[in-house]
Amino acid sequence: MLSIQSHVSLKPYNTFGIDVDARYWVEINHENDLQTLLSISEFLNTPKLILGGGSNVLLCHDFDGLVVKMNIQGIEVVREDDQHVYLTVGAGVTWHDLVVYCVSNGYAGMENLSLIPGTVGAAPMQNIGAYGVELEQVFESLTAIHTQTREKRTFSHADCQFGYRESVFKHELKGQYIITSVTFQLDKQPVFHTRYGAIQETLTEMGVSDEQLSIKAISDAVIRIRRSKLPDPAQIGNAGSFFKNPEIPAEQFDALKDTYPAMPGYPLDGNVVKIPAGWLIEQAGWKGYRAGDAGVHTKQALVLVNYGYASGNELIALARKIQASVQEKFGVTINPEVNII
Ligand code: FAD
Ligand code: EPU
Repeated sequence: MLSIQSHVSLKPYNTFGIDVDARYWVEINHENDLQTLLSISEFLNTPKLILGGGSNVLLCHDFDGLVVKMNIQGIEVVREDDQHVYLTVGAGVTWHDLVVYCVSNGYAGMENLSLIPGTVGAAPMQNIGAYGVELEQVFESLTAIHTQTREKRTFSHADCQFGYRESVFKHELKGQYIITSVTFQLDKQPVFHTRYGAIQETLTEMGVSDEQLSIKAISDAVIRIRRSKLPDPAQIGNAGSFFKNPEIPAEQFDALKDTYPAMPGYPLDGNVVKIPAGWLIEQAGWKGYRAGDAGVHTKQALVLVNYGYASGNELIALARKIQASVQEKFGVTINPEVNII
């Protein structure tokens, strides 16, 4: 049963906690509801904002259109063979609940992606990633509905054109499809990823020996690291990393290293080096900065925060100043990762 409401505050529905108004608001619990909604002629040409957990959006003004909150539930084992288990999961399932389900059933592959906020349906949008693993490594396919034609389409891995925090849904197909479910391929025999960042060190602190290593232990270590440096949106408004880590030509990196010998960098294929934007922002003097209620997190300079009543435009103004100062100091462009609406 569809219930379309008018003038709903989006404050509880975005992790930055920005208080803007949605002209129309609807929650979708079943795929049929979505088909019904998209066939209402009154809304055919109304701008639509699809929302999961609102943990990767910055809302800068009232939304004069229809906000569609995706709540479709369900985790189903659809197939299995000797090596893999395939799960089809509703777009509205909380990402971390899925990780917990997989870890407790011994389905491996997602444990490094523990505690990322948000929903399953939004995860392929930007190919979520953390601690050396990206969604695309466990992704098999997804189903989505076209907002205009209502055609239901299955997207394969190749169709999604995944990249670092990228997919086809942020580019050619932006705003055209609503993801309703995602199918994942998990491993029965785990392949442990412990080399990234502080995972190994944290496992040692937790007293986990090599013989005791398990997907549960990795999940626990990732949760511990994340809790120690990322702000909890329930306490301080934020959307995780505000910017992407920039990728620059190796020659430019070498030249910067001459001036800034401590600059970290991770070589990628194609003579390109990825640098942590958090380092650049901290070196440019922004870590812990605060103007009114908009600020830069004290423990992670890549995370912009709302201490209470900052507006989207105040956060954007801060982001622009940070971009300009990083550009001026290092000659490196940093681009937002968050979806600015
Ligand atoms: P929303 O914010 O609701 O939406 C994000 C985008 O996807 C919007 O453009 C929206 O229109 C679109 N969208 C949402 N659902 C659908 C759908 N069903 N169909 C079509 N379009 C849809 N991200 C990482 O990759 N790695 C991290 O380690 C990480 N850490 C974070 C830590 C914190 C504290 C926070 C607050 C965020 C972090 N993020 C991280 C970002 C965020 O969790 C992810 O981007 C997540 O996938 C967003 O999910 P969501 O449901 O909240 O999406
Ligand atoms: N650093 C600083 N100062 C800071 C923050 C970071 O110097 O204030 C430097 C340090 O050298 C540190 C390095 O940056 O070693 C990397 O920091 P961190 O491990 O915290 O990771 P990140 O590059 O800042 C990325 C993702 C995160 C993801 C973590 C762990 C992006 C844009 N962000 O952050 O994803 O959780 O790695 O894998 O790629 C998100 O997308 O919202 C997000 C939180």
